[in-house]
Amino acid sequence: MKKVRIGLVGILRNARGHGIECLKNRNARVVAGCDVSPAGREQGQKWYGVPMYPSLAEMIKNEKLDAVIISTPNWTHRQLTVDALKAGLKVLCEKPMANTLSDSKAMAEAAKKYKGFLTIGFELKTCPIMLEIKKIVDSGEVGEIKHIHFLQTPGQKDNDWKISQKLSGGLFIEKLCHQIDTFRHFLGDMKSVEVYHGPNTSRHYEVMDNCYATFAFKNGAVAHISFITGLAAANYGLKDSDYPKYGHSLRFDFIGTRGSLSYNYWDKSLTTCKLVKQKDGAWKSKLVSKKIFKKYSAAQLYESFVYQDRDFIERVGKGKKELFTALDSYKTMQAAFACEESARKNRKILL
Ligand SMILES: NC(=O)c1ccc[n+]([C@@H]2O[C@H](COP(=O)([O-])OP(=O)(O)OC[C@H]3O[C@@H](n4cnc5c(N)ncnc54)[C@H](O)[C@@H]3O)[C@@H](O)[C@H]2O)c1
Repeated sequence: MKKVRIGLVGILRNARGHGIECLKNRNARVVAGCDVSPAGREQGQKWYGVPMYPSLAEMIKNEKLDAVIISTPNWTHRQLTVDALKAGLKVLCEKPMANTLSDSKAMAEAAKKYKGFLTIGFELKTCPIMLEIKKIVDSGEVGEIKHIHFLQTPGQKDNDWKISQKLSGGLFIEKLCHQIDTFRHFLGDMKSVEVYHGPNTSRHYEVMDNCYATFAFKNGAVAHISFITGLAAANYGLKDSDYPKYGHSLRFDFIGTRGSLSYNYWDKSLTTCKLVKQKDGAWKSKLVSKKIFKKYSAAQLYESFVYQDRDFIERVGKGKKELFTALDSYKTMQAAFACEESARKNRKILL
């Protein structure tokens, strides 16, 4: 397989995770980067030792690239993605597709128009814990999944663009699009969404931080999200073992017709139960196993870019198509924007 020549679009913060994966991958070479900020370019030069440009256009003009990884703020994704596709480059763009539905649509349409390769960074579908859960679900051990519940009580974010409604697109766009995408991965197309929200507990937040969302699927299953920051006021940056002390929870429950799977972020556990019929005819849950994934940190188990970036590089190198298409991600974005609309209009939205 030929080495894939990668240009990094955006250098600081989240982009560093992708840069590290590219450096570790023997089938990839970081050949250049671009960043609008001088600090990003200076740091990029130190990290990668390759030319750094102030814009994607200049990077494309001066470098021979196969692919770009775009990890810049949400409102820049459309322009950067369309320009890269137009130039014939293969694109991995961070989630969400964009901070508006029309921009998200334009990205999916550009991928079609230029017969390009565009995949969106919904890495939860390919993180180690979800690969494990999907394997168990596909084996039929817990039957057909009829209900997924996601609970998160994260700490508050500092005052940056991610808590601005306009810049980020909203809570369901910037953050919970991951879980919506995961629900769709397990349950297929959605029928409707409905969001209830209370007053915010984080006063500096413009986006919602206190809500409950229900998703109905065409196959009859349902999924829920409960999200609140107020329970867990501590800042990020603690040791993994300290987070739960501050009330931070993150868990997924997958409930099937024959059993259930429960994943707990902080103790890195996956609990499998099966339903057993009692003598009196009632069904009870019986613990089958509780597996602790010790070889991973909590973040590696759930949020790792490893598999996603490795898959991207391999597909580009071998001339294959995307694992998850832009059209599929667009459907996730439609549901995420429908959640924002539901909260605004205080009613159920049909998809
Ligand atoms: N997949 C995940 O779990 C995950 C986690 C965190 C962030 N993200 C996503 O990654 C993206 C980046 O987030 P972030 O917090 O690192 O953002 P950020 O605001 O820190 O910006 C990242 C970098 O992009 C640069 N940049 C801004 N505009 C640019 C442009 N037009 N061209 C080139 N460079 C530009 C900035 O200078 C900065 O170096 C966002 O879309 C965010 O939603 C995804």
